[in-house]
Amino acid sequence: MWNEALNRFAVRHSVWTVALVFLTGVPLWPQSPELPSGPAQGKVRTACLECHESRIILQQRLSKPAWGREVDKMIKWGAVVDAADRDAFIDYLSANFPPEKPDEPMPRTLSPRKRSH
Ligand code: HEC
Repeated sequence: MWNEALNRFAVRHSVWTVALVFLTGVPLWPQSPELPSGPAQGKVRTACLECHESRIILQQRLSKPAWGREVDKMIKWGAVVDAADRDAFIDYLSANFPPEKPDEPMPRTLSPRKRSH
């Protein structure tokens, strides 16, 4: 009985979710978190969020040479990065996601933590 009610709720809910997404174009699940602001933010957003959401980048902690290899790998896989922008991408990524930065807190669900050391 409980199962049946749950099922019915789930079915109705998913129908409404799909309908709302179609009608409004606004997904009901949380948006992919925004990239940090910076000079290359717009271009990184365009070039790098084509295939995957920002989270995969926000969670990464790499040194500058490693970001260089990462960007080159993504270019090889099809990312459209102007050769003139490559350095700016690597600067932006290595400045915002260096190895010494603490792991990304879950956005908007945890209060900011201070590092104790
Ligand atoms: C052509 C599609 C495509 C584009 C454009 C793209 N990526 Fe990726 N990226 C991938 C795929 C596929 C993976 C592996 C996904 C997975 O493991 O779920 C990936 C994974 C990653 C990872 C996780 C580590 C890894 O190597 O698996 C990072 C970091 C990353 N991409 C950064 C970037 C950055 C920065 C850009 C912009 C320069 C970018 N991506 C553009 C396809 C792309």
